[in-house]
Amino acid sequence: MDNLICLLITMCSVNIASTATIETTKLLFQDLFSNYSKHVLPVIDQSKPVSVNMDLSVVSINDFDEVTGTLTIVAILNVSWNDESLVWDSVLYGNTTTLTFNQDLIWLPEMVLLNPADSVEPIGNARFKVTVTSTGGVVWATGGLLKAACTADVSRFPFDQQNCTISISPWGYSSSQVTLTVPSRTIDFGFYCVNGEWDVTGSRTMQLSNTFDIAKYTITIKRRHTSFLVSVVIPIIMLAFVNPFVFILPFDSGERVSYSITVLLAFSVYMTVVSDRMPASSQPMSILAYYLLFTLSISVLIVIVNIFQIRTYGKDNAHQPIPQCISRTVLFLQMIYRSKKIETKRNHLFPQENGDIKAGKDVSGENNLQLEDLGGSPISSGEPLHENAVQKGEIKATSDQQGCTWYKVAKMADVVYFGLFSFVTVVVTFVFFIITT
Ligand SMILES: *[C@@H]1O[C@H](CO)[C@@H](O)[C@H](O)[C@H]1NC(C)=O
Ligand SMILES: *[C@@H]1O[C@H](CO)[C@@H](O)[C@H](O)[C@H]1NC(C)=O
Ligand SMILES: *[C@@H]1O[C@H](CO)[C@@H](O)[C@H](O)[C@H]1NC(C)=O
Ligand SMILES: *[C@@H]1O[C@H](CO)[C@@H](O)[C@H](O)[C@H]1NC(C)=O
Repeated sequence: MDNLICLLITMCSVNIASTATIETTKLLFQDLFSNYSKHVLPVIDQSKPVSVNMDLSVVSINDFDEVTGTLTIVAILNVSWNDESLVWDSVLYGNTTTLTFNQDLIWLPEMVLLNPADSVEPIGNARFKVTVTSTGGVVWATGGLLKAACTADVSRFPFDQQNCTISISPWGYSSSQVTLTVPSRTIDFGFYCVNGEWDVTGSRTMQLSNTFDIAKYTITIKRRHTSFLVSVVIPIIMLAFVNPFVFILPFDSGERVSYSITVLLAFSVYMTVVSDRMPASSQPMSILAYYLLFTLSISVLIVIVNIFQIRTYGKDNAHQPIPQCISRTVLFLQMIYRSKKIETKRNHLFPQENGDIKAGKDVSGENNLQLEDLGGSPISSGEPLHENAVQKGEIKATSDQQGCTWYKVAKMADVVYFGLFSFVTVVVTFVFFIITT
């Protein structure tokens, strides 16, 4: 019988107690705040600090400005602590274990961004809510648009990676009043919206305790470089490789200078496009900017060299003697360049062609071209050619010892320049990619 009554009472009490009515909640509210002051630290022993936990959750990265060094993110701070004066017996208030109300009713550890890019203000809005449990645990989710100062390192642009730190502190409270703890080792990206330009590659957290506590959240972002690579870097590299090919155009085509000037102009046009998309930061400069300067300089150099080449070629008709040092160098290079070709080509070509060339050599420079294009006049065949010319008494002034002409000088220089500029372009492009990636 006693048991039955006991059970009945328990059941009744369960039924009554579990129905948290508006009345019980109002009563709880009244009782909690009749004697509450939000101006004092919520600890009974005021000599002890309030222990605050804070986790950061990044919702989106809005912008990263390399020039001003500003990272703009939308972040949520999950701040929790224990308020010892907000403890109640849930059974007395209809088993109400949690209460949610406006944040301005209770004490709050107001958080301030320590590395702001604009003004120093408490993070968040005054109309957020807090949730309190009957044991005194308070959870306060605040946040908003954070503009943090973050020095950019664009030296490896567009393959750069940036580490940005967001430092937050309970403004105004010393370590002996409020201690800050970061429970999580990383930033939470549970609500993250993907950014088109930046990819989050990692994050870490740290807490510092000095005269006041600081929570540091470091976010590592990596630039998505595909768009820049496809629209800027690859076309520029292609232009850079097209450039040395001017040296294999024939002199007589009359296109050589216009070709190299056109490539130079294409570079200049591209540079104006690129400069809009390049970070204008000079501290430090990006390696890509130096690479662009290099390709432009090579282009300018090719135009100049080309003009001198045409000048050299033009001397063929001016009957100017070739300095001995130049002719020796040319012949030496010819020897190296052709030593392999001679073995294969000579047998096929020279027995038939030699006679024609001998006969027509002195009439115009055209035959020299022919000679060249056939795979070269080897030094060995130069001797009989020379003798023949002497016999005829028609030796040209430009025809130096062993048949070296200005045309040959220009032609050999072309080969050297083509090789040199191609080689330099390949090496520098390669080095650029090695350094930046
Ligand atoms: C209400 O509180 C009583 C007493 O602690 C407990 O026995 C009961 O399970 C609670 N009811 C609910 C619905 O949690
Ligand atoms: C306020 O709370 C304190 C201790 O919790 C108590 O001594 C005091 O009587 C309360 N004052 C009022 C007006 O309820
Ligand atoms: C906020 O922190 C509290 C306590 O650490 C936790 O219970 C809660 O799930 C967190 N909320 C979010 C949205 O992370
Ligand atoms: C960013 O931080 C990571 C991890 O500490 C480090 O390895 C990397 O070198 C840093 N990057 C820059 C650009 O400082």
